[in-house]
Amino acid sequence: MEGRKVTGWAARDSSGFLSPYSFHLRKTGPEDVVLKVLFCGVDHTDLHQIRNEIHSTTYPLVPGHEVVGKVIEVGVEVAKFGVGDTVGVGCMVGSCGECLCCKTNREQYCSNMVFTYNAIYKDGSFTQGGFSSAMVVHQNYVVKIPEKLSPEQAAPLLCAGVTAYSPLKQFIGSKKVIKAGVLGLGGVGHLGVLIAKAMGHHVTVISSSNSKREEALTHLGADHFLVSSNSTEMNKLKNTLDYILDTVPVKHQLQDYLPLLGVEGKIFVVGAVPEPLQFSASGLILGKASISGSFIGSIQETQEIVEFWVEKGLKMMIEVVKMDYVNKAFERMEKNDVRYRFVVDVAGSNLE
Ligand SMILES: NC(=O)c1ccc[n+]([C@@H]2O[C@H](COP(=O)([O-])OP(=O)(O)OC[C@H]3O[C@@H](n4cnc5c(N)ncnc54)[C@H](OP(=O)(O)O)[C@@H]3O)[C@@H](O)[C@H]2O)c1
Ligand SMILES: [Zn+2]
Ligand SMILES: [Zn+2]
Repeated sequence: MEGRKVTGWAARDSSGFLSPYSFHLRKTGPEDVVLKVLFCGVDHTDLHQIRNEIHSTTYPLVPGHEVVGKVIEVGVEVAKFGVGDTVGVGCMVGSCGECLCCKTNREQYCSNMVFTYNAIYKDGSFTQGGFSSAMVVHQNYVVKIPEKLSPEQAAPLLCAGVTAYSPLKQFIGSKKVIKAGVLGLGGVGHLGVLIAKAMGHHVTVISSSNSKREEALTHLGADHFLVSSNSTEMNKLKNTLDYILDTVPVKHQLQDYLPLLGVEGKIFVVGAVPEPLQFSASGLILGKASISGSFIGSIQETQEIVEFWVEKGLKMMIEVVKMDYVNKAFERMEKNDVRYRFVVDVAGSNLE
């Protein structure tokens, strides 16, 4: 059944160009939270999706999955949230609730997980994302945003932040200093550097150019910066890293990076590269390396990263823009011209 009418910005075809679009949210159910969207981050996955590069896209599509909003209505059975609360929604808005993944706080891997947009919700409605004036979300997929955290700083944590935090969390409590590599210093990568440093890791940024060196070392606090095409520097790093957080969104050779790992080192692939990635078996075997994927994080981990961020007093680098800049923002993100995340001021963009 249809609920309130809202305005979002939608892509209509694989050109990915976004323009205003009116649609109806689903009717507010007893366990739903309705939020007025304040800010929404711009993730490279949004670009993959509006261009139909991954998960075949149904148009019109309203992207946006780093959503911070104010609660404006709650269903009768909602106990966790009240009107006026600042809340966050990330990449998923549903899962089965019954399977092993759901029962062990790994609902992002549930085979019936419902993406925030470009997915069919349990009631048959089509999900639309946070580049919209409001959203309806089941309370189990909503996190609390602490008062100390500004909503625009909170937004990128809901996807990029938890994507970096979830695989890195396993190193908490390590007795030795973890040697980290962050490959690709974009939205996810720069949060990866900040989170890894806050966890006490020794962080090397591996970038495609020298342009972010100064910022990485001074503002983000990385320990070391190298350009992937510099073979002398890459050679010096051989056999040293405990892990590499690979955030690169375009085709690249994993076998160029495997030699950087120490014994039993790990590459966490989080970049959703549309093409197959390659590596040689011996690069993996010698050194007992592993290549693993990681998809966002659970709702519990999303709440954890928000709290971790506040506890550690971290500050990310974002560029806040209005909705009518969003096409330009995508264009600039594709050209690797953003420091380091665009966040759309949705409430300040007069969508209605
Ligand atoms: N697994 C998950 O759950 C998850 C969650 C969020 C995002 N993702 C995926 O992770 C990837 C990164 O997302 P993001 O939002 O961080 O992207 P982004 O802000 O565009 O950053 C990507 C970075 O990769 C590097 N890069 C190297 N070659 C590039 C090229 N040809 N074009 C663009 N960038 C290039 C750049 O860093 P340098 O300048 O340092 O080289 C760039 O800043 C995307 O594929 C996205 O879909 C996955
Ligand atoms: Zn499930
Ligand atoms: Zn994302």
